[in-house]
Amino acid sequence: MTKLPDLKFHPVTAPKSGVTILLVGKSLALGPVAKQLDEASAGAISRAMKVAEFKGELGSKASILAPSGVELDGITLVGIGEEALSEKDFLRLGGIAMAELKGKAKGSVVLEAEGVEFDAASASLIAMGLKLRAYEFDTYKTEKGKPKEEKDAVKVSILCADVEGAIAAWEKDDAVSDGAILARDLVNEPANVLGPKEFAARAKALESLGAEVEILKQPDLEKLGMRALLGVAQGSERKPRVAIMKWNGGAEGEAPVVFVGKGVVFDTGGISIKPAGGMEDMKGDMGGAAAVTGLMCALAGRKAKVNAIGIIGLVENMPDGKAQRPGDIVTSMSGQTIEVINTDAEGRLVLADLLHYSKEEFKPRFMIDLATLTGAVLVALGTQNAGIFSDSDALCAQLSQAGEVTGETVWRLPLAKEYDKMIDSKFADMKNTGGRWAGSITAAQFLKRFAGDTDWVHIDVAGTAMDSPKTDISQSWASGFGVRLLDRLVKDNYEG
Ligand code: BES
Ligand code: MN
Ligand code: ZN
Repeated sequence: MTKLPDLKFHPVTAPKSGVTILLVGKSLALGPVAKQLDEASAGAISRAMKVAEFKGELGSKASILAPSGVELDGITLVGIGEEALSEKDFLRLGGIAMAELKGKAKGSVVLEAEGVEFDAASASLIAMGLKLRAYEFDTYKTEKGKPKEEKDAVKVSILCADVEGAIAAWEKDDAVSDGAILARDLVNEPANVLGPKEFAARAKALESLGAEVEILKQPDLEKLGMRALLGVAQGSERKPRVAIMKWNGGAEGEAPVVFVGKGVVFDTGGISIKPAGGMEDMKGDMGGAAAVTGLMCALAGRKAKVNAIGIIGLVENMPDGKAQRPGDIVTSMSGQTIEVINTDAEGRLVLADLLHYSKEEFKPRFMIDLATLTGAVLVALGTQNAGIFSDSDALCAQLSQAGEVTGETVWRLPLAKEYDKMIDSKFADMKNTGGRWAGSITAAQFLKRFAGDTDWVHIDVAGTAMDSPKTDISQSWASGFGVRLLDRLVKDNYEG
């Protein structure tokens, strides 16, 4: 992975080297540092604004290379518009700044602009935008067969009014950034490198942050009776794992919040095999588990005042002489029986046992599962929103709110007994597919049968976790979706 930027906070003074980013609103009025640089460069900044027809619109840019009269390599003006800036805007500005600084040795971002106060929180959000934008998954790119020479990370000074405050805020936000980047890394890794065992080792590594991590292996899962999960894994040479990550930052004895992740390291569809076109994307079918692992990394890293548990089911769905067949009936850990109509509807089988186990074992305040569960959610919501499904209006409202502030947005889809009926089976208690229509909803209804009375939300991230559109803060195939969203949900509603 490309080296992430080396970020430091300093007081606002005129930068003397590298490339500097200046922020300018629609009034086009320059802040004190910008004014000073404009004067020293014989009006280069004012002229550049005219020549580029720069209007200060949020996200617009104008660049000057090697301006005379100052020792800077370059100056880039970035527009901030005229409305009050939201958290998402600060992140975006950081991202846009990094696009300019990438590949350079040194740069700075000057947090000043007419009529805007950049507080510690906004300086830290800009740092987060810088870091998330800089991420690139190039582990397997060589230079003509030789490992790439690692360039030094770009050194970026964030020049701001409240340096101490920004450093304190960044200590927390940096941990959240690390969580999102961990999730991206896990999703981007190919399945030959990241199998159930290797993923479990990455989860285990969170112990270095003070989390407790337990790895369950096949005999443990057999003893527990997780036959639904094991049925999915049985066609693969690589044995399944379940990783349980615990962060105890809350009061002793306080019920935990629980996050459950689908970790299908590769989904061929099994005997109900998928078509070849695009199947390579199914290396990302562990996006839910990656988000849960990234979230636990974030919570532990920022020492969140909450008891949180992440549990992920790591399996590979393969066709094989030993693989599960359509028509097979499995008994889940809950005792409920499932007729497997389509072996490609495997994620819900994995989650069924994890949800039942979590509810019984952890007695949670709530459980939220994340899964790249259905292609149908892409049809319904595209890549812009994850689908959420729940009977809890309160949890849905909290998630929507967290989505709005972080930009990881969600949209609620319905549950109802009419949909539930669609998964009744002729031979068993239920079947694992509900027919052609409402595919994301019938999948959620299936999960609901295992969540029981516990407060629960299912988040379908099939459209948001992977194959993501490039944005100002992500240039990566894997977005890390869910980490910032759920970290924020916890921070705003379940801490302290
Ligand atoms: N992992 C897929 C869902 C998926 C599709 C994720 C596209 C990301 C992008 C899931 O296991 C699956 O195959 N679902 C089937 C369910 C069907 C067989 C009822 C689907 O969506 O077609
Ligand atoms: Mn599948
Ligand atoms: Zn799948």
